[in-house]
Amino acid sequence: KLPNAVRIVEMGPRDGLQNEKQLVPTETKVELVRRLERAGLKAIETTSFVSPKWVPQMGDNAEVLARVLAQPAAGVAYPVLTPNLKGFEAALAAGAKEVAVFGAASESFSQKNINCSIAESLARFRPVTEAAHAAGVRVRGYVSCVVGCPYEGAVAPQAVAEVAATLRDMGCYEISLGDTIGVGNPASIQRMLEAVAMRVPVELLAGHYHDTYGMAVANVHASLQMGVAVFDASVGGLGGCPYAAGASGNVATEDVVWLLHGLGIDTGIELDALVDTAAWISAQLGREPASRVARAVLAK
Ligand code: HMG
Ligand code: MG
Repeated sequence: KLPNAVRIVEMGPRDGLQNEKQLVPTETKVELVRRLERAGLKAIETTSFVSPKWVPQMGDNAEVLARVLAQPAAGVAYPVLTPNLKGFEAALAAGAKEVAVFGAASESFSQKNINCSIAESLARFRPVTEAAHAAGVRVRGYVSCVVGCPYEGAVAPQAVAEVAATLRDMGCYEISLGDTIGVGNPASIQRMLEAVAMRVPVELLAGHYHDTYGMAVANVHASLQMGVAVFDASVGGLGGCPYAAGASGNVATEDVVWLLHGLGIDTGIELDALVDTAAWISAQLGREPASRVARAVLAK
């Protein structure tokens, strides 16, 4: 049985923009968040407190978050990525009420992305989760490369389950499972979810699927059948990971919403406003929206 309602965590301002070559003005990022709020998104990942040397596009993190939080919309969460205590402290100073730590199920990806091993990363996340919980800040956990790694190829479901369980033990309220390079298909995604659900209740899992091979919507559907009811998505299909060459954006939020509404599942999101937002941000970046649903709706 499919869930009656699904929570969508919008990735556009963070995962969507982090890999953008042209520097996106702070003003545009804040405006994107505002438009997403108006479209009905209740969780909007706003920026990341990572090193500006590693990800220059997120260098205005404190200003973006502070400006967004100066006028928060009712009932909306604005999580931000924090890889270490330094990032967490900066996020807290900017007013963050929710943060996310991000690990990987592949050693090489962990090294390329956050410059440390999986074990070192988990050891770094522990003080972050402790400081966050002491400050009343919620922590989400990510696992990257849940089916495949750009450097190592196929990733074992057990490796994903192990990292997910450790993040859960640290008190992460939800574990987002990232198919970073979009190589998963419904079979490999379901095998991975089966292994993870043995260690972490499925109610605490989120699917974070990139659409590199066009399978992300199918993977969302396969995950719904396994009881997953939270999905990360990016308006207009924006994005790509700087440490996963060739990986395209997250599944487009409007593609997921179209699927869910078609299945009779409630999202609280207004499709037309979302598609307008996809068109607007794509125009700001000088391109057409990447998603099929945005193009179809706009062509009407
Ligand atoms: P490092 O170089 O190992 O860090 O980077 P360090 O502790 O050795 O410090 C080196 C310098 O960086 C120092 O400055 C620190 O102060 C500074 P210096 O003394 O040389 O002037 N530094 C920082 N500055 C700002 N913010 C910080 C911070 N920490 C240290 N938080 C680090 C380690 C994790 C910081 C680095 O590797 C990094 O920033 N990586 C970026 C990773 C990233 O943003 N990747 C994309 C997001 S993850 C993703 O997209 C996947 C996901 O979507 C799920 C999926 O799809 O799978 C979540
Ligand atoms: Mg991602």
